[in-house]
Amino acid sequence: MPFKPPTPGPSVPPTQRHPSSAANIVLIGFMGSGKTTVGQLLAQKREWQFVDTDEMVVQTARRDIPTLFATEGEIGFRDREAAAIREASTGERQVIATGGGAVLRPENVEALQKTGVVVWLTARPEVAVARTQYCARERPLLVAGADDLLTHVLKMLGERGPLYQAAAHLVVDTSDRDVHAIVREIDRKAARARALQPEPACR
Ligand code: S3P
Repeated sequence: MPFKPPTPGPSVPPTQRHPSSAANIVLIGFMGSGKTTVGQLLAQKREWQFVDTDEMVVQTARRDIPTLFATEGEIGFRDREAAAIREASTGERQVIATGGGAVLRPENVEALQKTGVVVWLTARPEVAVARTQYCARERPLLVAGADDLLTHVLKMLGERGPLYQAAAHLVVDTSDRDVHAIVREIDRKAARARALQPEPACR
């Protein structure tokens, strides 16, 4: 099934959903969607801390991601990723970049939606492939496919697209765009999403 990034599902479209809290900005999206690059610049702009949950996993495990997949399997990695997400979700004034598979566990999505504005960074499949092909070895799930990289990416996007869609408050495309323009767009939209939050009920 071809991947179409911001296809509105039967649920509430992301742009009309309100984050329950907006202490942080959370970036979700497929490998090569630009979460780290955009996240670092956005954190700089806001003078917030940049937190990368993959990096937290690597630091805690003292092993890189391919080694973790090889020794503990994907489940071991996902358990560590869930722990990193739980920990990151307790902070504030952070831009949190997640790994591409963070949305696979509902408990992660719940924690991320509670902790801030969840922004789904999209990229056309060819763009995601171009951005990742030279370092695909660092991403075990990209080398796991028997197909060529684009076919494999399309298959994974077909499975994960609805999960990103369901998790996101906002969608921002990063294909063929200046990174500073992307950062400005997220900054503006996240501030607006925060302003739109319902006021707490009076007692
Ligand atoms: C994964 C994405 C990676 C990393 C791990 C698994 C995935 O992060 O968490 O290799 O399942 O999509 P990036 O999205 O930062 O590459």
